[in-house]
Amino acid sequence: MYIRTAELTDLAAIKKLYQAVALAGTGIARLEHEVTDEYIHNFITRSLSSGLIIVAEHPENKNEIVAEIHAYKPGIKVFDHVLSELTIAVHPDFQGKKLGRTIFTIFLEEVGLHRPDIGKVELIARESNTKAIALYQSMGFRIEGRLEMRLKTADGLYEADIPMGWQNPNFEFD
Ligand SMILES: CC(C)(COP(=O)(O)OP(=O)(O)OC[C@H]1O[C@@H](n2cnc3c(N)ncnc32)[C@H](O)[C@@H]1OP(=O)(O)O)[C@@H](O)C(=O)NCCC(=O)NCCS
Repeated sequence: MYIRTAELTDLAAIKKLYQAVALAGTGIARLEHEVTDEYIHNFITRSLSSGLIIVAEHPENKNEIVAEIHAYKPGIKVFDHVLSELTIAVHPDFQGKKLGRTIFTIFLEEVGLHRPDIGKVELIARESNTKAIALYQSMGFRIEGRLEMRLKTADGLYEADIPMGWQNPNFEFD
């Protein structure tokens, strides 16, 4: 499987991936119809200019993307050492095969090796996504709080979001 940095020309393939993930469950916050060109375009361009975006191509069809991870800087001076809005998505047909762990490991290695400007990577996971939270903890993320009643589920119930953070051991403090 070929894993590489994304390009803007991956927009359609990434959109298809996000729509499949949104349709299959509750892992990402957006509903299928909220996965728009504008949303994908925004995070690709912001991740390419200030953060990181990595994709895994389908093993038999390089035009298809089966996994993606990205995060970018908020664009405000005081947060300039932070990668935020992290999202990871693995196609439902490829989940549970270590692909999520693999691309996330590559992502953090890249930050550690080549991005001394980044001190912290942050993400938010819904409380019921216990497998994802356990995955992030095993990669060095720590739970930093609990955002009560932050999201409304399809059943009309309210659920807490869990903010998590990872610190870059090679951050160059200035
Ligand atoms: C969460 C997600 C990125 C994990 O990627 P994955 O490739 O399915 O997971 P992996 O096979 O790499 O498994 C890594 C660990 O994650 C856990 N895990 C998390 N979500 C899982 C899922 N849906 N299916 C299977 N394992 C999952 C496993 O327990 C596994 O633990 P282990 O390595 O100790 O055995 C992926 O399932 C996904 O995209 N889910 C839908 C969207 C989502 O939830 N995004 C995260 C929002 S915070």
